Amino acid sequence: MQNVTIVDHPLVMHKLTHLRKMETPSREFRELVKELSSLMAWEVTKNFPLKEIEIETPICKTTQKVLAEKDVVIVPILRAGLGMVEGFTNIIPKAKIGHIGLYRDPETLQAVEYYKKLPSDIAEREAIIVDPMLATGVSVIHTIRLLKEANCPNIKVVHILACPEGIKAVTTAYPDIPIFCAAIDDHLNDHAYIVPGLGDAGDRLFGTK
Ligand code: URA
Repeated sequence: MQNVTIVDHPLVMHKLTHLRKMETPSREFRELVKELSSLMAWEVTKNFPLKEIEIETPICKTTQKVLAEKDVVIVPILRAGLGMVEGFTNIIPKAKIGHIGLYRDPETLQAVEYYKKLPSDIAEREAIIVDPMLATGVSVIHTIRLLKEANCPNIKVVHILACPEGIKAVTTAYPDIPIFCAAIDDHLNDHAYIVPGLGDAGDRLFGTK
């Protein structure tokens, strides 16, 4: 599938199954989302550029590779995206964090923005949008548009779970944007929940149900 990477490492699959289980409590759910985010961050950063530097080991001088400076901004979509931030900053500690708050208007079904705070140097940063669920795609499409309007040069999107409807919506609107997810589930139900899914990611993260 064009521009979609499924991170199906056995550790990811194992943790995802426990995340889906309805009896998994919030404390464990938060921990699993953090761990899954870190595991996915390995894949997302796979093509980060390296540069060579001279170092000295106890044995001799040698030329070896380190990460070339790359400025990153992690952009969680509130509120469930917050659960993925720490997993990413564990792997990319120098990343800045931007926040986008959206809700879906029940009548128009469009995303309504209630909060936006992005770093002032966003036009020089690679953005990684994080939101555990890709359902209709409305929120992530809105967020990609905001980042493009802010001249963000390079944007990636990371979800834990996606569905065919959401993948189609985002890849149709933005075929150039890479999407990473751990699984693409069967379908969206009439209430815009992913099936089989894991329920409401925000409620499960924050214990609000
Ligand atoms: N958001 C969620 O939290 N869960 C879904 O299944 C779909 C959207």
